[in-house]
Amino acid sequence: MASTLASVIGGRPAQRTAAGTVSSLNPSRLTDVVAEVALADAATFAAACATAKRAQPSWADVPAPVRGRAAGAIGRIVEANKESLARLVTRELGKPYAEALGEVQEIIDTCDFFLGEGRRLYGQTVPSEMPDKQLFTFRVPVGAVAVLTAGNFPVAVPSWYLIPALVAGNTVVWKPAEYAAASAMALFELIQAAGLPDGVLSIVFADGEESFAGLELGLRAGTIDKIGFTGSTAVGSRIGELAGRHLQAPCLELGGKNPMVVTPSADIELAVEGALFSGFGTAGQRCTSLGTLIVHESVHDEFVARLSAAVSAAAIGDPARDVLYGPMLAPKFGRQFEEYLGWIQPHHEVLGSTGTGRISSANPRAGFVGDPAEGIFYHPVIVDRVRGDDALFLAETFGPIVGVTSYASLPDAIELANAPGYGLSSCIYTSDPREVFQFRRGISAGMISVNNSTSGAEAHLPFGGNGKSGNGSRQSGVWVLDQFTRWQSVNWDYSGRLQKAQMDVAELAADLDFRLGT
Ligand code: UN1
Repeated sequence: MASTLASVIGGRPAQRTAAGTVSSLNPSRLTDVVAEVALADAATFAAACATAKRAQPSWADVPAPVRGRAAGAIGRIVEANKESLARLVTRELGKPYAEALGEVQEIIDTCDFFLGEGRRLYGQTVPSEMPDKQLFTFRVPVGAVAVLTAGNFPVAVPSWYLIPALVAGNTVVWKPAEYAAASAMALFELIQAAGLPDGVLSIVFADGEESFAGLELGLRAGTIDKIGFTGSTAVGSRIGELAGRHLQAPCLELGGKNPMVVTPSADIELAVEGALFSGFGTAGQRCTSLGTLIVHESVHDEFVARLSAAVSAAAIGDPARDVLYGPMLAPKFGRQFEEYLGWIQPHHEVLGSTGTGRISSANPRAGFVGDPAEGIFYHPVIVDRVRGDDALFLAETFGPIVGVTSYASLPDAIELANAPGYGLSSCIYTSDPREVFQFRRGISAGMISVNNSTSGAEAHLPFGGNGKSGNGSRQSGVWVLDQFTRWQSVNWDYSGRLQKAQMDVAELAADLDFRLGT
C-alpha cells in the first residue's frame, strides 16, 4: 500500500484535508501507486502562509552565514541521498535514471553556491556628497514566500527557489505539483534534516484552484510577500495579474517555444546530437525543450535526414534502463500531448518513428525498451515543413515533438525564432562569430546557447525568460537574490547639522572654458 502524504505546516502534519485525495502514479508502470496525496484546501494554504509570516522575523535574525551553512548541510544531505532521491524521481516522474541523477546534482550545485552566499549577501558603502555623512545599502529579506512548482523538475527547480529564499532570510510555503508529491516530500524531509526551525519551510499539497484561492487569501491577509511560480504561461499570467493587484512582482518561470537555428557553417553532427537531446530528452517536457528547428535551406534536407535517422534509432522506454526518454510525466500530459498531435496537418511531413501517438502493441515503436502497455509512452515526432501560422509553430507543445522549418537569411531565421512570442531559451549552431553576435543581438530569449542545445542550463547562470516565458525575473546564481531580497538604503549623517542633499554640496571652481593653447 502506498503511503498517504499530507501537508506539513509549522512542523506538524496538517489536519484539514477537505479537498480530497489524489494518487501519484508511476508513469512507466501505472499499476504502481507511488503515493496517495491528501489535498489541502485554500484555507489550509492560507494558514501555512500565516505560519510562515509569523516565523519570518526570527529566521531573519539567524545570522546569514548560519543560514548559508544550512544550505551547505542540505547539499551534503542531498548528496548522501543522491541515488535514492534519483530513483524516486525516476519512479514517480519517469525520468531516465541518468537524468534524474543530474537533476539531484542540480540541487547540490545550488546548495554549494548558496553556502557561500550566506557569507556574502553583500551590501555597499557609498560615498556621500557631503562631509561627515555615510551611505549604505543592505539586502533585506522580502518576507514570507509562496512557491508553486511544476513536476517536470520535481526537486531541482524547487531548490532554485527554496535554497536562495531561505539563505536570504525568508520563510517559505512550498506547493509542489500533486503528481510529483512523493519526490517533493522526500526533498522536504532532506531539507528539514538540516535543522530548520518549525515554520521556516512548510509544504502544502493542493490542486491548482485551491492554491490560487489560497494565494488570494494570503495576499489579502498580508501573509504573502512574494510568489514564485514555475508552470504554464496561462497560469503564470493569472498569477501575475493577482500579484499585480497587490502591487507585487512574482518570480515567473513559464513555458517556452525554444528555437534552434542551424546555419550553413554548422557542425551538422553536433547539431543533430543537440536536437535529439533537447527535443526528446525528458520526453520533451522541459521548459527548455527544443520547440522548432530553423534550418538553413542549403542544409535542411541533410539535417532532417540525419535527425530522423537518429530519432528513429533512439532507445525509448523503461526509464530505469539506458533510454533517451521514458514515459510522459503523468497521465494528464499524455492527454494534452494527444491534442498537440491533432495539430499535424496535411502539408506536414512526419518523421522519426514507426508510428505516431501512444506506443502500444497495436502501434509499436521499433526497438522499444520494456512493455509499452505498462505506462504512458509516446512515439517521438519530427514535423517537417511547419509554417509560420501553424499552431505547431506558434504554441508550446510539451512532449516529444519538434517542428522543422527552413530559412534563407539569418535575419529571417531570427524573425522566425522570435515569432511565437516566447523568450526562454534558444540556440544557434554555427562556426561564424558574426552570426553568433547577430543572433545574440536579435533574439528575444533570456538564454542563448552557441553550439549547444536549448536545454541543460548550469545552476549558477541567470535562468529565465521574456515575453510569454516570464516577466523578466531571473533565477539562479546571485541574480535570484533580486527576487528574494530588497535593497534598503541608509544614510547616516554624523555632522550634527542638517545637511541638505543637492543644496548644501560643496563645489570646486572649474574653468569650463579652458582650452589647450596649441
Ligand atoms: C525546466 O524545465 O523548468 O536547463 C528547467 C535545463 C534544466 C532546467 C530546466 N537545467 O534544461
